[in-house]
Amino acid sequence: MKLTIIGTGYVGLVSGVCFAELGNTVVCVDKLETKVQQLQAGKSPIYEPGLEELLQKNIQSGNLSFTTDLKENIQDSDIIIIAVGTPQSEDGSADLTYVHQVAKEIGEALPTNSRFVIVNKSTVPVGTAQSVKTIILEQNADVDIAVCSVPEFLREGSAVYDTMNPDRIVIGSSSQWATDLLETIHFPLASGDKIVRTDEPSAEMIKYAANSFLATKISFINEMANISEHLGANIDDVVRGIGSDRRISLISSMPVLVTEVHVFQKMFVH
Ligand SMILES: NC(=O)c1ccc[n+]([C@@H]2O[C@H](COP(=O)([O-])OP(=O)(O)OC[C@H]3O[C@@H](n4cnc5c(N)ncnc54)[C@H](O)[C@@H]3O)[C@@H](O)[C@H]2O)c1
Repeated sequence: MKLTIIGTGYVGLVSGVCFAELGNTVVCVDKLETKVQQLQAGKSPIYEPGLEELLQKNIQSGNLSFTTDLKENIQDSDIIIIAVGTPQSEDGSADLTYVHQVAKEIGEALPTNSRFVIVNKSTVPVGTAQSVKTIILEQNADVDIAVCSVPEFLREGSAVYDTMNPDRIVIGSSSQWATDLLETIHFPLASGDKIVRTDEPSAEMIKYAANSFLATKISFINEMANISEHLGANIDDVVRGIGSDRRISLISSMPVLVTEVHVFQKMFVH
């Protein structure tokens, strides 16, 4: 399949490289010319284990390319993935300027009387798939589009491994044809129970709820560590004691916490 991925940050670049490695033809688009030139030369702007090797391998095989030109490359894509940043606004809300700008550019670039699956991988508030669809159709009313939500759960530092070995793939789509296409593209990574099929708002909510839950776990265990230190208790033993309770393990994946508590505390949640 041919994929166009817009935005070559952690999410877009790692997804692009991994989908290329799985045999797809991937074009990654970024508006930053110097970044695109660097990527075309096979140099990764970020360090992730295994990333640069796969980047160079897939450029050489012809599966992966980089450009600043969205319009030229989008036309014959099977799937278009939005992976631009959603920085925090001053009031704490997600700034959707980049996502909505990309939606406008997609709307301007799509050929009329065509059918496209557009996937949002950026972390966005509930309702964004709908607002992206509205913006695209405002630019071009004669396209048949499904705007789906497939949130990203990778961790910086193990991004390639996480992408190639996902715990689950959440597909938020209310169009069966789009769901089928997205299941096909993810098949080498996940199938059966590892695919969570749902609608777009639920997929967007899953990502926010997962981030909140992980943040809650980190805050909770940090508090327990502070109290333990104050009272002369051993936090590692406390964690082991909590995590071996099946009720806690079942609802909160506590084994992760047991084995990786120190890594977990440092983990950055996006
Ligand atoms: N970094 C993570 O670990 C992580 C994990 C899960 C989810 N996310 C989410 O994924 C999204 C992307 O995160 P990131 O860390 O990859 O972002 P990033 O800011 O590192 O990269 C975004 C890229 O998009 C490009 N861009 C912006 N507007 C563009 C446009 N109109 N056309 C082409 N390119 C454009 C920028 O130049 C930049 O290179 C965010 O919503 C983030 O919250 C990030």
